[in-house]
Amino acid sequence: MTAAALEPVRLADYRVPAFLIDTVHLDIRLERTQTRIVSTLTLRRNPHSAGQGALKLDGDGLVFVEAWLDGVSLPSDAYSVSPHGFSLHQPPAEPFTLAIETRLDPSANTQLMGLYRSNSAYCTQCEAEGFRRITYFLDRPDVLSVYTTRIEASFQEAPVLLANGNRTEHGSLADGRHYAVWHDPFPKPSYLFAMVAGDLAMVADSFTTRSGREVRLEIYVEHGKEDRCAYAMDALKRSMRWDEQAFGREYDLDIFMIVAVSDFNMGAMENKGLNIFNDKYVLALPQTATDSDFAAVEAIIAHEYFHNWTGNRITCRDWFQLCLKEGLTVFRDQEFSSDQRSRPVKRINDVKLLRSQQFSEDGGPLAHPVRPEIYNEINNFYTATVYEKGAEVVRMLKTLIGDEAFAAGMDLYFQRHDGEAVTIEDFLTCFAEASRRDLGQFMLWYRQSGTPEIRAEGQWDEEAGTYHLSLKQILPPTPGQPNKQPMLFPIRLGLVGEDGDLPVTLDGKPFDGLVALAESERNYVFGNVRQAPVPSLLRGFSAPVKLTVALDEEALLTLLKADSDPFNRWQASQSYALKLLLRLVKDPTTPVDPRFIAAVRGLLAGGAVDPAFTALSLALPSETDIAREIGNDVDPQAVYQARSILRRTLARDLQADLLRTIENMTMAGPYSPQAADAGRRSLRNGALDLICAGGTPQALDAAAAQFDKADNMTDEMAALATLALSATPAGERALHNFRERYDNDPLVIDKWMGVQAMLPLEATLDRVKELMHDPAFSLHNPNRVRALIGTFCSANQTQFNRADGEGYRFVADIILAIDPKNPQLAARLLVAFKTWRSLEQGRRTLAAATLRDIARRPGLSRDVADIAQRSLA
Ligand code: BES
Ligand code: ZN
Repeated sequence: MTAAALEPVRLADYRVPAFLIDTVHLDIRLERTQTRIVSTLTLRRNPHSAGQGALKLDGDGLVFVEAWLDGVSLPSDAYSVSPHGFSLHQPPAEPFTLAIETRLDPSANTQLMGLYRSNSAYCTQCEAEGFRRITYFLDRPDVLSVYTTRIEASFQEAPVLLANGNRTEHGSLADGRHYAVWHDPFPKPSYLFAMVAGDLAMVADSFTTRSGREVRLEIYVEHGKEDRCAYAMDALKRSMRWDEQAFGREYDLDIFMIVAVSDFNMGAMENKGLNIFNDKYVLALPQTATDSDFAAVEAIIAHEYFHNWTGNRITCRDWFQLCLKEGLTVFRDQEFSSDQRSRPVKRINDVKLLRSQQFSEDGGPLAHPVRPEIYNEINNFYTATVYEKGAEVVRMLKTLIGDEAFAAGMDLYFQRHDGEAVTIEDFLTCFAEASRRDLGQFMLWYRQSGTPEIRAEGQWDEEAGTYHLSLKQILPPTPGQPNKQPMLFPIRLGLVGEDGDLPVTLDGKPFDGLVALAESERNYVFGNVRQAPVPSLLRGFSAPVKLTVALDEEALLTLLKADSDPFNRWQASQSYALKLLLRLVKDPTTPVDPRFIAAVRGLLAGGAVDPAFTALSLALPSETDIAREIGNDVDPQAVYQARSILRRTLARDLQADLLRTIENMTMAGPYSPQAADAGRRSLRNGALDLICAGGTPQALDAAAAQFDKADNMTDEMAALATLALSATPAGERALHNFRERYDNDPLVIDKWMGVQAMLPLEATLDRVKELMHDPAFSLHNPNRVRALIGTFCSANQTQFNRADGEGYRFVADIILAIDPKNPQLAARLLVAFKTWRSLEQGRRTLAAATLRDIARRPGLSRDVADIAQRSLA
């Protein structure tokens, strides 16, 4: 059996569309299994295209009924049609209208792409190529059209009928049916089309823009969930205000709607005026959502809203330019959250995510540039590289050209390209003009894959009062890119003495803290260095690189205490812990350095100043962090063991300090999701978790007490996770009680599933298999699958990577079972194998065999075949 043949799409093959579609009129008659669509397009030849001949429209699994050209039914020899396309052999030279009727079965749509049903509602998901599952179309982002949508349905089944834009008409019809007409005046690509119909509850509010226009805000949810929307609504209003203040961007329609659905492949979708959300990122109450859930709701509401300008008003020319909207919008939502919360804490969390998701991707077989040049399946390119590294690239641009030029470049971009579908080159040109800089070398960040390494070496010359710093860039080979050109790095840095930053000079001038490294290697000589300094490099993580610098324990302690940069203070804590952990992986009997324990004690003592920051510094590098540092021949069990030893040692040696922290961080009064309170909870729960690693009865009693009396999900979940990890009867009791308490709340039961899937125990695999029979679980719902199976393979290093290969087998079987129904979901689970090559030989062999077995299966989806083949290449 051979692997499925894939037909790659190449950026180099881009051609402008041969036809333009100025208007789209969609007439949708909803029926559960027999929905009828008539799409009427006004078309004309694209004056910028050399294309001749037939009009070829995309389709995917469509059932064709009839077509009309300028109102006249088309004879069957005038076109050819299949489920995958419609071709009009001789399109008129002058503008014309083409109407096509198709039928589809929303109830049978398990891919959750196109028009499908979620619970009792009809909804759509069109990005990237879902519109072609509704009607034949030029389904590509550079075809912008004005849409009018008429929806008709049974009133009883679907009293609510929504589409993009403004509602222009509605009324009732015979047989208990009714209709609504929506018109969106802004030309848009098909991927931004949306329609929703169902029996939904609605929460309304309003927002007055800075120019005084009133915008109606509506959030639609299942009946009975209305009380869970308040936080999302508030986040929406804060996002709207922030985009006006930070980017000068005002909302443009009279209404903005959000619909929460429970079956959704992704987090949320930015359809024009009608965002559709995974309900996990809308519904939030203190009793059901954790602090991280609240933060995620806020960030995702903001992200999708911000797309209205970065993505919708200005869109992508083709899907290779995905980072144009996603990287930029992630950058914008990160900035928003930084302004709403603590900037350093947000930065640290973003970098943690980048390193764990993106660095591992960039270092393995699935590595690709921020702007890929070839793909087999576009759905597989909504990756950490496009999103997270894409955001880092925008951040570096801002660092390099400065805040003012960056703001001017953004303004120019909005002004010049409003209403267009553009490229990364168009985007960068705006900044090149605004800053009067050549950004040619910077462009390599979009073209070269792999995580660059920056090697730093420094030497203090006491007599001369100088410090010589050499910076070298090393660009590792990645799939398809054996050799690379030197890149441009903004490196923020400082020299730190016992009492803080030293006021040093560079080239005789006071040093402003930033260098731009453009060469393979460069030496800098800092002056006015009167005491032995410790270099604090890559402050704020100013570039997405792996920094290699030899800092001994004393140097790290200096940074931990005296660095003015909070990111590098946190980094020092992590680097120190990592040193110890790497030694423990090699030899579990290595004694733990008492200076480290003293430093953690110091952190705890000062914890009240910034609890969230302290919590981050207290948390040890994760198992995947340690594995990445080891690089190859990783034994996940040895990594886990090393981390456990260090945790137990800290728990034992810092017991009193941790108890004091727990006490000091306890709050009276009602729960608030605000960052300050969330920070105190994170420190308290971090301390609780650590102290329980010691396994003393008192510690576990404290966790049990917290579990019993918690008035919010953050504290309740933290206690549950800690108790479950203890693998004691108290843990089983807590799990049992939790299940009973939240029986009717799928999003909370997801957390319960996740906690169990994460347990680093031999018995976990069987437990996960058993949980699949829990009535709350379903292989059809992406949230359920991700909570149980996704957590098992991405957050349980020891059990997914079991030495006997059973973890791989289990996950592979599930992927193969899901693939025929929902290829996107299946392919995303398969990404869990992305670091298989760095495992020790036994596991590596087993993982490879499993991947090969998947790749060989007949009838795989393109999504899964693509990931399997690239993972093995
Ligand atoms: N446009 C995407 C949603 C999407 C992704 C649709 C892939 C189709 C295929 C949306 O703007 C998005 O990026 N959502 C993220 C969350 C965001 C906060 C990073 C998601 O869904 O994970
Ligand atoms: Zn997005």
